[in-house]
Amino acid sequence: MSNPQPRLAVTTGRVEREGQRALVEHLAAELGVPIVERRERSTLRIIEAEGLEALVVVNNERLHYIDSTGETFFWHPNMAVVRIGAVRVHGREDLLARACDLRPGDRVLDATLGLGADAIVASWHVGPSGAVVGLEASPVIACLVRHGLATYEHRLAPVLRNISVITGNHTGVWHDDAFFEPGFEVIYFDPMFEQPIGSSSGLAGLRPLACYDRPDADVLAAARARAKRRVVVKGRAFDPWLRALQPDHWVQGRHRRLAYAVFETDRGE
Ligand SMILES: C[S@@+](CC[C@H](N)C(=O)[O-])C[C@H]1O[C@@H](n2cnc3c(N)ncnc32)[C@H](O)[C@@H]1O
Repeated sequence: MSNPQPRLAVTTGRVEREGQRALVEHLAAELGVPIVERRERSTLRIIEAEGLEALVVVNNERLHYIDSTGETFFWHPNMAVVRIGAVRVHGREDLLARACDLRPGDRVLDATLGLGADAIVASWHVGPSGAVVGLEASPVIACLVRHGLATYEHRLAPVLRNISVITGNHTGVWHDDAFFEPGFEVIYFDPMFEQPIGSSSGLAGLRPLACYDRPDADVLAAARARAKRRVVVKGRAFDPWLRALQPDHWVQGRHRRLAYAVFETDRGE
């Protein structure tokens, strides 16, 4: 189950710029939350005065998510940019690409999108003839990432724009034939760890919003029935729940803290 959405509202920057109102209205409708007028108040003042737990603030084209402690999040693709640079410039192999056996033209379902770093790396590998669809159970995370992928200005913009974000729990899709038309070569899961590994979690302030479900044997069987080539589940190496899924093989990095459990499908090429 997803964590419940916080008591949330959408507002503008201190100075409302032309064109911002339409985005504020769009986001409020998407999230099903009210709009509060800024009236030159600080964000923390609004949160307290309006009895909220968090605010989404439209600053220029960028969205900020601010909680009641003042922790602020805005979406950016940094880690994905570093990873793609390591492949492109230094010829390194990305572990996700190896585990998923990503090829140009592949369609990838990222069933646990999060901030989309893995989806961006996958999108770069599959190229413009492929596509990535990301499912995210948290409406707020999905909204921030969808907006970031659609608007972030960068030379990798075409890679970001080739990812479609769908808000919803992956448990709802396995019986939906239309969703799997034309299908996916690869289905990928990267469930939440209860404790983040080191500083690896860019989710930081968004962790309370995330869904902590793990794909169990039933989900895995459903994904295997749908994927054309592979299902991949990322987890901590030696985690008993991951081992219990009994993958066909493992892909691990040098440090061996993380492991990708790889499941071939019957239709594997
Ligand atoms: C560890 S993060 C994924 C990080 C992501 N791979 C990245 O590179 O940014 C896991 C994300 O999956 C989402 N999630 C967990 N279970 C889910 C489910 N059953 N359906 C959809 N999203 C889910 C969580 O809300 C969280 O945002």
